[in-house]
Amino acid sequence: MAQEDVFKKVVAHCKEYGFVFPSSDIYDGLGAVYDYGQMGVELKNNIKNYWWQSMVLLHDNIVGIDSAIFMHPTIWKASGHVDAFNDPLIDNRDSKKRYRADVLIEEQIAKYEEKMEKEAAKAAKRFGESFDRELFMQTNPKVLAEKQKRDALHERFAAAMNAMNLDELRQIIVDEEIVCPISGTRNWTEVRQFNLMFSTEMGSTADGAMKVYLRPETAQGIFVNYLNVQKTGRMRIPFGIAQIGKAFRNEIVARQFIFRMREFEQMEMQFFVRPGSELEWFGKWKELRLAWHKALGFGDASYRYHDHEKLAHYANAATDIEFKMPFGFKEVEGIHSRTNFDLSQHEKFSGKNIKYFDPETNESYVPYVIETSIGVDRMFLSVMCASYCEEVLENGESRVVLRLPAALAPVKLAVLPLVKKDGLPEKAREIMNQLKFSFNCYYEEKDSIGKRYRRMDAIGTPYCVTVDHQTLEDGMVTLRERDTMEQRRVAITDLESIIRDNVSITSLLKKLS
Ligand code: GAP
Repeated sequence: MAQEDVFKKVVAHCKEYGFVFPSSDIYDGLGAVYDYGQMGVELKNNIKNYWWQSMVLLHDNIVGIDSAIFMHPTIWKASGHVDAFNDPLIDNRDSKKRYRADVLIEEQIAKYEEKMEKEAAKAAKRFGESFDRELFMQTNPKVLAEKQKRDALHERFAAAMNAMNLDELRQIIVDEEIVCPISGTRNWTEVRQFNLMFSTEMGSTADGAMKVYLRPETAQGIFVNYLNVQKTGRMRIPFGIAQIGKAFRNEIVARQFIFRMREFEQMEMQFFVRPGSELEWFGKWKELRLAWHKALGFGDASYRYHDHEKLAHYANAATDIEFKMPFGFKEVEGIHSRTNFDLSQHEKFSGKNIKYFDPETNESYVPYVIETSIGVDRMFLSVMCASYCEEVLENGESRVVLRLPAALAPVKLAVLPLVKKDGLPEKAREIMNQLKFSFNCYYEEKDSIGKRYRRMDAIGTPYCVTVDHQTLEDGMVTLRERDTMEQRRVAITDLESIIRDNVSITSLLKKLS
């Protein structure tokens, strides 16, 4: 199946099975805003729990907070977001559509990469098992020509972005002959800067109202609380503060479903370290975070690092963890060495001393910070894309199965009476009532057992048990596994111990320690 088709199917599947709905659906939606349905909220909560527990349970020097979305407006002046949180925009005069200039150029870079991959795929087909991909990529003239174009563009683009040279960004778009996907023309305006923060007013009277922003990242709530937490928690450097919460950005290019949203959720952790040790910690957190992703079992080839050439105003090192989405490798998480920029700025703008006194060195200093920042929604999308699978079975039938890691699945066990009579529903309810304290169970009695299995496959339920007439006599049920579809008879009394460990977040956490 072509990758674009996979993506379309994932989007449709999310709606059909109650994972994600467009916001304000009956009013035809609201651009780049989405709601999570009955299945989606469970999956999302499981992702959040996996992250939260990997941070605060597994590290005795990391604690969590939950700071408010509204913050003092000076915070955003201090952090640089009022002046520098901008995207370079360009309009096409014919279609009247607005684009991010950097995204248009990144897509052009991706096109060169796609051409290189196409050449490799053709050759792999031609040479079969004897194909040496590495050698081919290093020597094939067509691949090398595309690579040269890509590298030259990349270099020019990085220089323009670093200098925020808007004229040069426009010139790149012109030179690369990039066309508007709607009008197909190259009738571009100048490139302009556009601030991504949403603002509103706090207070009742027009005179006294204060302009406040909806936070574009959760990190600043951690920075301004760092000393409160350090003092009340008697934390010693190095230590971390974790937070999960909503963030808002007035994104111009709102595409690719929940990949780029205007209201989204972040899971961020700021790790406070001694000045000079930050790059060592940056390396450690890069590894730890990649291991967290890989423990989900989607295969190591699904991930790669992308080290930043253009660093944000606050960083001295930064990398993205990219995931292989159906539309290419895309950033899911950022790991940033943010220096002491944010804390120093808050010290300056607030006029308060926020230095840490280090009892080991007898020195006071503004700590350096390593940040790990992952979008819950992007993570959700990557999990859905990696899990979605269409299979043709041995009997010729097909099924859609979500091969979710069991620990993330919204429902862990479906309890299904074979028929709706003869005391089987009552027995099934009895089983549910025992097991519902240990994990999320789902009861269903409508339709044939085959149809019910398919529905459970489609929402990624790792286990189903069927209660039949024999159950009433011997206390055994049929346990069916989602991926293998294997069925075996097990005692009701054994169900909890068979299932619990496989579906718990702990099973993932153990892979990390
Ligand atoms: N505090 C640092 C920070 O916010 P970022 O790279 O801008 O860094 C971190 O964002 C993560 O937040 C991204 O890797 C992505 O997963 C998520 N994210 C950012 N913008 C998003 C958007 N518009 N929609 C969904 N997720 C987004």
